[in-house]
This record gives sequence, structure tokens and C-alpha cells, in this order.
Amino acid sequence: PKQQTLAVIKPDAMEEHRERILEEISGSGFSVTQLKEMVLSREMAEEFYKEHREKPFFSQLVEFMCRGPCMMLILTKENAVEEWRAMMGPTDPEQAKATCPNSLRARFASDILQNSVHGSSNEQHAEEKISFIFGDISSDCRDHRK
Ligand code: CMP
Repeated sequence: PKQQTLAVIKPDAMEEHRERILEEISGSGFSVTQLKEMVLSREMAEEFYKEHREKPFFSQLVEFMCRGPCMMLILTKENAVEEWRAMMGPTDPEQAKATCPNSLRARFASDILQNSVHGSSNEQHAEEKISFIFGDISSDCRDHRK
């Protein structure tokens, strides 16, 4: 069965790496069901990352995510959540370089904060973040495809 996940190209990767990342997404068999470029407000970034509210890096993270435009994508594929996470590689690019040198973060990320891409960690988060970013219209579309 097809699955959906939310992928984000973060502000640090938008200028230099966006095109390459989009090509690799399509080349890896994901369908880009929806896509939009947007600048997150502080409030949206805080809500988007609410699971990390207690982390010491939370304010830095919010600041970074609001710094410039992000590309938001709904990716559809069998096992999309896990496949997109594998393609991104570990959160920390140093670890990514050591363990998954072909991953996006190994190649494009600058550090553990500015790590180029985001992906939902599980199916429930994927649904929640997709409706948060794309609203109810996208969940209607999702239902019609089932
Ligand atoms: P992401 O996968 O989008 O989920 C949470 C984000 O917080 C993560 O990518 C990084 O951008 C950031 N992050 C995670 N751990 C750290 C850390 N130790 N220091 C700074 N930023 C971090």
C-alpha cells in the first residue's frame, strides 16, 4: 500500500541544493503529490516542532526554520516514511558521513541544526504535519486516492 510522508527542504539547502534534492526524490520513485514553497512564521515553526519544545536547541531551531523559504512536499510511495528517512540519513551530518555517505544529509548538511531536510518520523506524525502544512484540502485528496 502507498504511504505518504511530509518532506521539507530547509532554508540552508534552498539556494544551493533544492534542484538536486528534487531530482533525487523523483529519481527514487517518490511521487510528489503536493509541493509548496513558504516562509514559516515563528508561530508555525513552533507548532511544527512542538515535540521538541523542551529541547535545549528549540529556540535555535525555530529561528533557523524561519530564516528563509522552505519547500514543503507530500511524498507518496510504498513505505514512504521509512524510505524518505533512509534517503535523508542520520540527523547529524557527521554521523551521516560516517554511516550513510550517499545520504542527503551526508552530502548537503552543514551541521546538526542546519541539516538540509526534514521528514516525518512515523505515519501519525506524517498525517498530522501534512494537514498542518497543507490543510484540509490535501487530506480530502488523500482520502480519494485510497
Ligand atoms: P529534524 O529531523 O527536522 O528534527 C528536529 C530538528 O532539530 C533536527 O532535524 C535538527 O534540525 C535539529 N536538531 C536536532 N538535534 C539537534 C542538536 N543537538 N542541536 C541543534 N539542533 C538539533
